[in-house]
Parts: sequence; structure tokens; C-alpha cells
Amino acid sequence: MAVAPTPMPPEWPALYGRDCLRLADFDAADVLGLVRLGRELKQLHQLRVPFEPLRGATLAMIFEKPSTRTRVSFAVGMQQLGGQALELSPSMLQLSRGETLEDTARVLSRYVNAIMVRTGPQANLEALAAAAAVPVINGLSDAFHPCQTLADLLTLYERFGYLRGLAVAYIGDGGNMAASWLEAAALLGMGLRVATPPGYEPDPDLVAWAKQQAELSGAGIHLTHDPHEAVAGADVVYTDVWVSMGQEAEAAARRQAFAPYQVNRLLMQIAGPNAIFMHCLPAHRGEEVTDEVLDGPQSCVWDQAENRLHAQKALLLSLLAPRHRS
Ligand code: CP
Ligand code: NVA
Repeated sequence: MAVAPTPMPPEWPALYGRDCLRLADFDAADVLGLVRLGRELKQLHQLRVPFEPLRGATLAMIFEKPSTRTRVSFAVGMQQLGGQALELSPSMLQLSRGETLEDTARVLSRYVNAIMVRTGPQANLEALAAAAAVPVINGLSDAFHPCQTLADLLTLYERFGYLRGLAVAYIGDGGNMAASWLEAAALLGMGLRVATPPGYEPDPDLVAWAKQQAELSGAGIHLTHDPHEAVAGADVVYTDVWVSMGQEAEAAARRQAFAPYQVNRLLMQIAGPNAIFMHCLPAHRGEEVTDEVLDGPQSCVWDQAENRLHAQKALLLSLLAPRHRS
């Protein structure tokens, strides 16, 4: 009787015990390894092959800001890998009564195998990671959103079959999403054109780092204030909300400054029919993107959202499980 072949357990990058506070914590080979592992885990999941190497492991999740995708995809991802996730809101913790982040990290490290944090200042993550004895994962900070960019890279890898040389136009705010995209493009040798209103450019130190890195990787990093220039010839048009979490007081000024940067049919026409549209979500329909583009045939935003699950499973596995092939 024929026996169905058992799928080989996947290989994963040697990142055991490391933190993921930003994408540039890793080198290009590690990032590509995570993307490929994400695709393998997605295939195993679609074939309904149980794969539970994190049995007995616990992820603590601290959310200082709201979240739908990050919260659910990390919780489900841990469960699918055989582990569990524990959600901790800061108001439930002694953090709300003055216990320091560092002491919280030391204590949590005695109970859990990793800590995922969504916070404002990047310095909070760095302090937590310095005190924690277990890996710390950035689930979004004011500065970076590495888990989203990993999922975006997986989505592009599925669509195009490669990443190096893809031309990405990033339209809108030079905030956390643009920053993680600068790191990804610079590491992986991609073309990135970032079009922001004057005054909303990405951090100049990060841009300088990205341009330096680009000389090694072959990436092309270009900043402009002209969205038409950015999207001409692009494979990918990417945008994010105009008002990020924590920027509510600036909402009126931002809506005015960003109005010419809306991704609409006209802008997608300049990019061309083969360009795809990406958005980290949540979208503010009618602001940074029209319904027509978000719901249109060039949009791949739901794949991006799904791929949070698979990309983060790859990350969790690589940080939490020692590498082996059995
Ligand atoms: N894209 C993203 O991080 O979504 P959430 O804010 O819903 O987690
Ligand atoms: N830039 C957005 C991303 C949300 C996923 C924010 O920080 O609110």
C-alpha cells in the first residue's frame, strides 16, 4: 500500500534567542529566510499538516495601542504552532501603578518564552529588550512596524516570485511603515521611491543609513514630494493612514497636507495595469485610498493581512525554537 510522503519539516533562519525590534536587526539572508519559511508554513497550513514545534511555549502580548491584525494573528499563530499567547493590557499590569518596564520584562521572562509589545517610543522596546531574558518582538512602535513589512514581503514573494529589483512606490506619511520599508528595500536590493508632503519625510538618519546600505545591496532609494514621479513604472503602490495612532491632535493639519497624496484611480493609472496596490490596514477609506482602489482588482490588501499570520509564525519559530532538522 502506498504511503503518503510526510512533508519535510521546514528549515528556518538561525535567529534563536534574538529580538526583533526592527527589520535591520537581521541581515538580508535572515529576512529572505523568514519570508521563505513563512511561505512554507502557509503551505503546510493549507495542506492541514499539523506542525507544532512550539508546544508548551507561551508568548506574552502587551498592547499599549489598539490592534486587530497583530493581536489576532499572533494569538492564532502561537496556537497553530502548538503554543499559547497571553494578552496583557498595561492597565491590568502593575506597569499602570509605576512598576518599571525593565522589572516587568525581568518578571515576564521567568514565565514566558517571548514578549510581543505594541508601544509608542522605540526606546520602550529597547529598554524592555535589554532587561528581558527572552526574545522581544516589536508589534508596532512609532518608529517601525517590522512584522507588517515581513508580511508584505511574503505577499510580494508570492505574487512575483522574487523581491530583488522590484520597484515599490510608497505614498503618504514617512512614519513607521515607510521606515520599515526603507529597511526592507535597503537590505534586499529593492527599488523604493517614497513620496511624502514636505515636512513628513522619513527620519533623515534612517534615510542616510538606507542609502549607504543600498550601495552594498544594489537597492535604489529615492525621496520625492511628487506622488506621480514615485508611482511611474512601479510594480507596487503602497500607502498607510495619514493619521497614525497617537497623532490624533495633528489630524486636521495632516488631512490637509496629505490630500494630494491620495491613492486613487488616476494615480494607479500612472502606475499602470500591472502594478499592485498594498496597504497595511486599517484603511481610512476616502482619505489615503479610495474604495475603488482598495476593493479593485489591483489590490492585495487581504492577502497582506492573511500573511501577517504566516510571516509571524516564521518569526516566532525562528526566535523561539533552536534550529534542527529531524
Ligand atoms: N496592520 C496592523 O498592524 O494592523 P492592527 O493595527 O490591526 O494590528
Ligand atoms: N502607521 C499606522 C500603522 C497602523 C498599522 C499607525 O501607526 O497607526
